[in-house]
Amino acid sequence: LGTKLWGGRFVGNTDPVMESFNASIAYDQRMWDADIRGSKAYVKALEKAQLVSMEENQKILHGLDQIADEWAKGTFEIKPGDEDIHTANERRLKELIGAPGGKLHTGRSRNDQVVTDMRLWLRDAIATLTSDALQLISTMVERAAVEINVLFPGYTHLQRAQPIRWSHWILSGAIAGTYLAYDLLFFFKYEIGRIFSLCFFCVFFLAEFLFWASLCLTHLSKMAEDLMLYSTKEFSFVTLSDAYSTGSSLMPQKRNADSLELIRSKAGRLFGRCAGFMMTLKGLPSTYNKDLQEDKEAMFDCYDTVHAVLQVTTGVLSTLKINQSVMEAALSPDMLATDLAYYLVRKGVPFRDAHSLSGKAVFTAESKNVSLNQLTKEDLIAISPLFEDDVSSLWDYQSSVEQYSAPGGTAKSSVETQVEHLRKWTKIL
Ligand code: ARG
Repeated sequence: LGTKLWGGRFVGNTDPVMESFNASIAYDQRMWDADIRGSKAYVKALEKAQLVSMEENQKILHGLDQIADEWAKGTFEIKPGDEDIHTANERRLKELIGAPGGKLHTGRSRNDQVVTDMRLWLRDAIATLTSDALQLISTMVERAAVEINVLFPGYTHLQRAQPIRWSHWILSGAIAGTYLAYDLLFFFKYEIGRIFSLCFFCVFFLAEFLFWASLCLTHLSKMAEDLMLYSTKEFSFVTLSDAYSTGSSLMPQKRNADSLELIRSKAGRLFGRCAGFMMTLKGLPSTYNKDLQEDKEAMFDCYDTVHAVLQVTTGVLSTLKINQSVMEAALSPDMLATDLAYYLVRKGVPFRDAHSLSGKAVFTAESKNVSLNQLTKEDLIAISPLFEDDVSSLWDYQSSVEQYSAPGGTAKSSVETQVEHLRKWTKIL
């Protein structure tokens, strides 16, 4: 008991199961470097406040460096009673430099160390995730630039909707990515650096990180789902590279999109982490409660998972092959029914009526078992006398997508603007 930081008022031993139940060293040792950096800053403040002498300060700093060295070399020995990283480093410091080691903790609790360590650790973690995200976004943007001329069906409700550019699909992912990277940076700049009223709100930064991680993977999960669908034999729009596919131990022909399935699954895992931590927070009284020890595994798991998912997604997207002819062959004239309605709108028909008349044309084509562009002039005139010979100019997918030149649209000029914007943006960061 004498070795425990808090052992003074105890006479009985801790139950052995409780001992390991209570310990966090198994996972919070990952923050050893942050813990040492925090302590080095803290001892300088103690010296300023004249709570340690210059000589004691030097001893402590030197001892902390030695401990850092042991962790870095993998020679640090965790001993029974090292409840967490803070306890372990403090125990070792006292072993190395004796009494002055006990002064380092003047005026600070482990709770302060926990929050300081986590914020320092997250700062580095976020720098890595930001660079992962930028790499993914750049991969997407460059793909969009190269494949800008490829058209394929846009779907809503999984039904063919309107022709769009393949690059437009890619960029909608890249744009979602930039928003997430923005959020991450904002969080990094303003939340991680903020001064908190001691421990009253201190863990909310972690809740925000967990939420960001969940939202990030939710986007990637939806993207992965689209690609899974596009890579089925039925669609055959894209082919996943061997590097990101796996086979079946039973069916030799199989080629499974395991990378995409795992990307999809990780979103659920992380949201579970986020929701689990919110449940832990909910109803806790203010300041530190041991429940909060649970936050570290959530933090590490979220970081590891997002780091891996961003790298795998970048890999998938940079090695993916598209099957342009199949994508373009999947476009069908019924996807131009909206254009047929706009034709009437240009002749003064209110959109609601034009929509209904175009719907009638779709119905007629279906009843006659022909495609929309095969309706005769008589068929169309029977629906509306405003249809003239120039209707035939509508049956062109390229000119259809070119109508959407507003910012964020699927016209070539609009996609090019987005590519340029994103290229600049990734360079600024
Ligand atoms: N390992 C603990 C944690 O991570 C340290 C905090 C202990 N603080 C306390 N007041 N019991 O939460």
